[in-house]
Amino acid sequence: MFPQPWTFILTIIATSLLMSSLVKSFPEADKSMFSEVDFNFPVASVGPGCTSVGIGAFTEHGPFVTNQGEAIEKNQYSWNKEANILYLESPAGVGFSYSLNLSFYKALDDEIGNPLLDFDTDMNAVDEYYWSHGIITDHAYKIMTSLCNSSRLLREYIRGQLSNDCLLAARKVSEEYSFTSFIDPYYVIGNRCLSYNVSQAGFLKEMLSSEMFQFRKSHDVLQTQEPEQQLDECNMKYSEKYLNRKDVQKALHARLVGTTNYRLCRKIVLANYDPLNREIPTINVVGFLVKSGLRVIVYSGDQDSVIPFMGTRRLVESLAKKLRLKTTLPYSAWFVDKQVGGWSQVYGNHLMFATIRGASHGTPTTQPKRSFLLFEAFLQGKPLPKA
Ligand SMILES: *[C@@H]1O[C@H](CO)[C@@H](O)[C@H](O)[C@H]1NC(C)=O
Ligand SMILES: *[C@@H]1O[C@H](CO)[C@@H](O)[C@H](O)[C@H]1NC(C)=O
Ligand SMILES: *[C@@H]1O[C@H](CO)[C@@H](O)[C@H](O)[C@H]1NC(C)=O
Repeated sequence: MFPQPWTFILTIIATSLLMSSLVKSFPEADKSMFSEVDFNFPVASVGPGCTSVGIGAFTEHGPFVTNQGEAIEKNQYSWNKEANILYLESPAGVGFSYSLNLSFYKALDDEIGNPLLDFDTDMNAVDEYYWSHGIITDHAYKIMTSLCNSSRLLREYIRGQLSNDCLLAARKVSEEYSFTSFIDPYYVIGNRCLSYNVSQAGFLKEMLSSEMFQFRKSHDVLQTQEPEQQLDECNMKYSEKYLNRKDVQKALHARLVGTTNYRLCRKIVLANYDPLNREIPTINVVGFLVKSGLRVIVYSGDQDSVIPFMGTRRLVESLAKKLRLKTTLPYSAWFVDKQVGGWSQVYGNHLMFATIRGASHGTPTTQPKRSFLLFEAFLQGKPLPKA
């Protein structure tokens, strides 16, 4: 089916999926640069309306990371040490891409890349994640699971038809859920970037922070001191700042059309995207790829509450069942530098689920080495280190 050894990577927001052919040989060409002859790893993209250059390349796994938005530094764990990666800005309107045909923006649908494997499973996993991480009480969780869970709430909300049960549940848990806006949902153990507003709001959070929930405004929480820490929680904003520099834009031969600022996520794209498209499952696409003989890995950062690993794990498990793939490597820890890098399970030798321990939604931002080693092992078809 494929004329040459190739590998394909598609990083979709949070539920990240890597695919590789079963062919083990890789071209020996220098993979540290883009090259015309050896173009083996085409695509990296992020969630709807958001830039894969500004986020994916400059804050996750690209060759450079921005240093406070002032300059760039080499990224020690750049994924293109292993492969050529093309960062795709899609659809037009995202990042520096644009369409001169304004009606283009009015007709955005699932082609923009629906990243959810399964709406119900993924959305309900959010409640479970909050509950199991001490973010909401047993009481709130019980209400969500018995009266109206997040997936139902969101389905009804999208259609503007909230049932009494869901309204009641939302009112009952609103105070507890209101505090989720004070954490970084993409990295629950990290700190929020306080000097800028959150740029890539999660769908559930967008909704939960809507007026329906009438959140308490606790400004004092916002004004607490920013503690010193190693990981800079504002790095996404630094990337935005860097790509907004006129000299950088000139060097990239990029121009802004229809917008005055480079933004990590574009409202025109998000606002025109049909929210019902989020309900289209994509787990079947993964099944199709597995069936066609490709090696596939679906992985999650275990500190992400936006697309929690439990939902993803559940979906991969049920896909394996459906495809009658037996577990060939039981769920177990994998290691980096003698520490647990995460957990993984392999089904039928070519479908793997993995977590990256301590990692956020965009795993390389917070666990660059673990993410890089997982990527490398996958591409080389090697088992993950077990000690
Ligand atoms: C503009 O975009 C719309 C929506 O995608 C499309 O139907 C139409 O053909 C486009 N017009 C031109 C001139 O390309
Ligand atoms: C939870 O979500 C599922 C899937 O949307 C739905 O079928 C079920 O009725 C929901 N349960 C509650 C209690 O809302
Ligand atoms: C953040 O958003 C608030 C409300 O929209 C606005 O008043 C404030 O100026 C913003 N802060 C920054 C740093 O952009």
